Amino acid sequence: NVLILDFGSQYTQLIARRVRELNIFCEILPFNQIPEDLSSFKAVILSGSPYSVRSEDALHPDLSNIKGKLPLLAVCYGAQYLAHFNGGEVAPSNLREYGRANLAFIKEDEAFFENIPANSQVWMSHSDTIKTLPTNGVRLASTHDVENAAYRIDGEQTYAIQFHPEVFHSTDGTELIKNFLVNIAQVAQDFTPNAFVEETIADLKQKIGNDRVILGLSGGVDSTVAAVLLNKAIGENLYCIFVNNGLLRKDEFQSVLDQYKGMGLNVKGVDAADRFLGELAGIEEPEAKRKVIGKVFVDVFDDESKLVKDAKWLGQGTIYPDVIESVSVKGPSATIKSHHNVGGLPDYMKLQVVEPLRMLFKDEVRRVGASLGIDPELLGRHPFPGPGLSIRILGDITPEKVAILQEVDAIFINGLKEHGLYNDVWQAGAILLPVNSVGVMGDERTYEKVVALRAVQSTDGMTADWVHLPYEFLMEISNKIINRVKGVNRVVYDISSKPPATIEWE
Ligand code: XMP
Repeated sequence: NVLILDFGSQYTQLIARRVRELNIFCEILPFNQIPEDLSSFKAVILSGSPYSVRSEDALHPDLSNIKGKLPLLAVCYGAQYLAHFNGGEVAPSNLREYGRANLAFIKEDEAFFENIPANSQVWMSHSDTIKTLPTNGVRLASTHDVENAAYRIDGEQTYAIQFHPEVFHSTDGTELIKNFLVNIAQVAQDFTPNAFVEETIADLKQKIGNDRVILGLSGGVDSTVAAVLLNKAIGENLYCIFVNNGLLRKDEFQSVLDQYKGMGLNVKGVDAADRFLGELAGIEEPEAKRKVIGKVFVDVFDDESKLVKDAKWLGQGTIYPDVIESVSVKGPSATIKSHHNVGGLPDYMKLQVVEPLRMLFKDEVRRVGASLGIDPELLGRHPFPGPGLSIRILGDITPEKVAILQEVDAIFINGLKEHGLYNDVWQAGAILLPVNSVGVMGDERTYEKVVALRAVQSTDGMTADWVHLPYEFLMEISNKIINRVKGVNRVVYDISSKPPATIEWE
C-alpha cells in the first residue's frame, strides 16, 4: 500500500491513477491527516500544491515519521518543501517554468532513472525554483532552465522531482514512478482485479455476515458491479431494486431487468413510470424536474425497501472520485465534510452503508466487472444521467414526447453500434427541442419537432469535446429519424465543447 499525501494539487488524482496502473494499491490522504500508524505503508508520495513554500501560510506537515524512515518521493511542491525546510534554498524563478521541458542532464547509474532515455520530455508547472539542494542532496537531473529538476538525499530513500511525472506529457513519468515504487521501495505489484475481487468478497462476508442488504440498481456499470460483488459474498441476502422512472431508453427497463435476472441477481423491477410522469406533468424548469425525480425516487425506493424485513445495510456503487476530497487550498484549517444528521431521512437512508467500490476508479470498476464475468456490453455502456430523458426533453414532459425521444435515441445509439462507433464515443444521446420547424413531406407542409444529436469524447465528464462523426453516418441517421419517427422533421448535430457548453442541454 502506498500513501499519497495531497497538498491540494489539481494533479493528485493523476498520481493515484499512475500508481494503480502499475497494479499497486494506493490511498490519497490530506497532508494534515498523516496516520500515526504508518506500518501498512511501503512508500509515500508528496503531491504538488498551489502554494509556495515561501509564503506564510505554506502547508507545513510534520514528516518526521516519514522522511528517512520510509521510501519517499516528493513531486513539485513536495520537492521544494523538502529543500526549503532541510537546508536548501527555494526562490522565485525569473524564467517561465510551465509546460514542456526536456531532461538535458541525467546522472548515470541511478536506479531512479533506469531506462529513462536522454532528453526525456517532462512537464513543469511551478513559479518557484530550487536554488540550493537540501543537506546531503545529490542532483539527479536538470533541464535547460531548471538546474535542480531532480535530486535524492544521500543515505535515505528520499527522491524529489520538480516536474510532474503523473501527467500525460511527461513521457516517461510512469516508468519513473515504477523505478521508485518497484525498484527502490520494492512495493509488490499485486493489486489486480482478481486479487481485489477475492479480498473484497472475503471482507464483505465478514462485515455483513447474515444481514440483509438493499441495493438500488440503475442499469449502469457501478451499481451492477457492486451488486455482483455483494451477490457473490452474501447471495440471496442481497435485495436489488430496479426502478422504471419512465425516462429510461427504449425497452431498457425490461431488457436490463432480464439481464440482471440472467446474472443470478435477486432483483425486483418496480414500474413507477406513471407515478414519475404524473408528478412531472407541466414542469418546465430543469432543476425543478430534477427535484421531482429525486423526491419520487426516494419515495418509491423507501416503499420498496420497507418490504425487505430486517434489512441492515444499504449497498451503493460509490466510486473513488466521489470519495476523495482534495484538500481545500485554504490550508491547514481545511475541514472534511461533516456527516448529515440522520433525523428526518427516509427509512432506507438510516441503514448502514456498504460501498464495495469506494476505492476504485471507473476503469478499474470495468476491469473488476470483466474479471467477474459481467457482459462486456453492459460494462461498456455509455454513462446515462439519473433523471434520464427528462433532461433531454427541453420544456415540459409528456408521455408522447418521451416516446418520440426514445425512438430517436434508439435509432442513433443502434446506428453507432452497427457502424462500430459506439466504443469510440464516451457518451451519446438525442435531445428533443421545444421548437417546431417547417418542412415539406410529399406535397404536404409540415410543422414538427427538431431533435439534436450529441456525441462527446471525454474521460470523466468534466471536460468534453464533440465527436467528429462521419458525414455519411450522420446522413443515414438523419434520414432514418425523419422517415421513421412521426413528429420529427429536422435533425441537427451539436458541435459545442464543454466548456463553455455542457454535455446535457439542461
Ligand atoms: P454536464 O451536462 O454537466 O454532464 O456536462 C456531465 C455528466 O453528468 C451527467 N449528468 C447527470 N447525471 N444526474 C446524473 O446522474 C444529473 O442530474 C445529471 N446531469 C448531468 C451527464 O449525462 C454527463 O455524463
